[in-house]
Amino acid sequence: EELKITKICCIGAGYVGGPTCSVMAYKCPNIRMTVVDKSAERIEAWNSDKLPIYEPGLFEIVKERRNKNLFFSTDIPTAIREAELIFISVNTPTKNFGNGRGRAADLKYVEDAARMIAETAQSSKIVVEKSTVPVRAAESIMHILRANQKADVRYDILSNPEFLAEGTAVADLINPDRVLIGGEQTDDGLRAIETLSWVYERWIPKERILSTNTWSSELSKLAANAFLAQRISSINSLSAVCEATGADVSEVAKAVGLDSRIGSKFLQASVGFGGSCFQKDILNLVYICEGLNLPEVAAYWQQVIDMNEYQKTRFSQKIIECLFNTVSDKRIAIFGFAFKKNTGDTRETPAITVCKILLEEGAKLEIYDPKVEAEQIFSDLTSASVTENPEFVRQAVKVQSDPYTAVERAHAIVVCTEWDEFQSLDYNKIYGSMMKPAYIFDGRKILDHDALQKIGFHVQTIGKKLNRAGLLRSWGQIPQFN
Ligand code: UDX
Ligand code: UDX
Ligand code: ADP
Repeated sequence: EELKITKICCIGAGYVGGPTCSVMAYKCPNIRMTVVDKSAERIEAWNSDKLPIYEPGLFEIVKERRNKNLFFSTDIPTAIREAELIFISVNTPTKNFGNGRGRAADLKYVEDAARMIAETAQSSKIVVEKSTVPVRAAESIMHILRANQKADVRYDILSNPEFLAEGTAVADLINPDRVLIGGEQTDDGLRAIETLSWVYERWIPKERILSTNTWSSELSKLAANAFLAQRISSINSLSAVCEATGADVSEVAKAVGLDSRIGSKFLQASVGFGGSCFQKDILNLVYICEGLNLPEVAAYWQQVIDMNEYQKTRFSQKIIECLFNTVSDKRIAIFGFAFKKNTGDTRETPAITVCKILLEEGAKLEIYDPKVEAEQIFSDLTSASVTENPEFVRQAVKVQSDPYTAVERAHAIVVCTEWDEFQSLDYNKIYGSMMKPAYIFDGRKILDHDALQKIGFHVQTIGKKLNRAGLLRSWGQIPQFN
């Protein structure tokens, strides 16, 4: 069969570019993939035994293809020159200055990548935007490329948003729900779409590969993330109602999710959502809507973010209230710092908000996470948005590599991430080494609350009122009252 593409370059070796190209190399042994990054340290890590990001199954794939048809390099110009197809998957952080500060995406890195391509390319390229960027970003890339076009060099620009979730990136890439490719609806544009589609068809059934115009593709990415986050904010809003009444949010989620029109996924109430995408993409959507003079639409989506802030704060306040309204100088063990399990990523993790609030109240934190590096935790908690006094934070926080050490003489345990291993810890032993009364605040609803209460813990969780009287009642030791 004719090979439509033989060499692909990916600019940006991060959470998106790294796993995506590794899986592509694994599934397309005849295509040579080169992932480039301006950070020599990152590239060195991709070439080592300790990859810069943790994803289940990723290292095995990288090991199998590395230096065969998968290369990690800092030589950006060579990789650009050789490739027929280039992915741009650089970071698009929220702007922290100037126009659109705090909401608009900072397209600086995307622009740099586009300029680099324009300067280096000597032959025609298909340029594929893979970073999450606001609607019309492909258009800006096109402007930069076409304004700097050399004779005999053509550019086709496509939007091909990535839907992988961290922690399941490899599985998501091998078996995606769909692949979305947006492009210009012209002969050249359609041909470029077909070429990229051909790459995915090496391992993905054609029915799952969707093609649209560029703007639909870009907006679909923002919309998908906004919908997912909205489900979490919706169930989290109801978790507050559950705690105030006798309803149990898990029961409500189950009953609601069984409606096939609604579906059961992404209805897990929690301390709040985190991650690099949800908040950023919704803020972007809100910003775009305001720019389009659609304030009602902007306000509608902004509420998804506001509800998430409320949930994180509400959970943290509950901890303080339960600990007799003061956590000053109390040792509190934080179980989990990553924004979800099976990743070492801490971007926008709800744990940062919880820790910030507890630190402001004078607590001493003992943080344990199986995958997050201590350095990362300190850098997150001493950042300017968290504290004006980094030295104070450094003194109040200890990062532990063992959960049993983290709980010693602690007044409370706060579960911020749903790591499986938290379910199988020896809570009798943990109870023994804690201060009494010993509290557990389960922000992820993963622990066996009945069993913990039987050990003697005071347990609080999301979306369910747990009281010790209830426990005794279920033991049949005291008569039913109220
Ligand atoms: C609804 C619930 O579906 C049902 O489970 C509950 O018991 C009663 O309320 P109903 O109001 O009869 O049922 O009709 P439904 O099919 O849900 O439609 C409600 C409205 O939403 C209609 O005006 C419908 O046209 C509109 N709709 C529905 C849309 O605009 N878009 C859609 O995708 C679906
Ligand atoms: C998300 C999208 O799922 C993915 O398709 C997109 O490409 C990038 O953004 P990611 O942020 O990696 O992926 O993880 P996701 O599984 O979506 O979780 C995001 C946050 O929501 C996590 O903090 C998670 O703990 C939380 N969450 C998720 C809940 O609180 N409840 C749920 O039911 C699901
Ligand atoms: P994402 O989650 O979107 O993948 P990351 O921050 O994990 O974001 O990765 C983006 C990567 O892109 C970083 O490693 C960064 O060094 C790299 N990068 C940013 N701009 C450029 C550029 N102009 N050329 C090469 N690499 C770049």
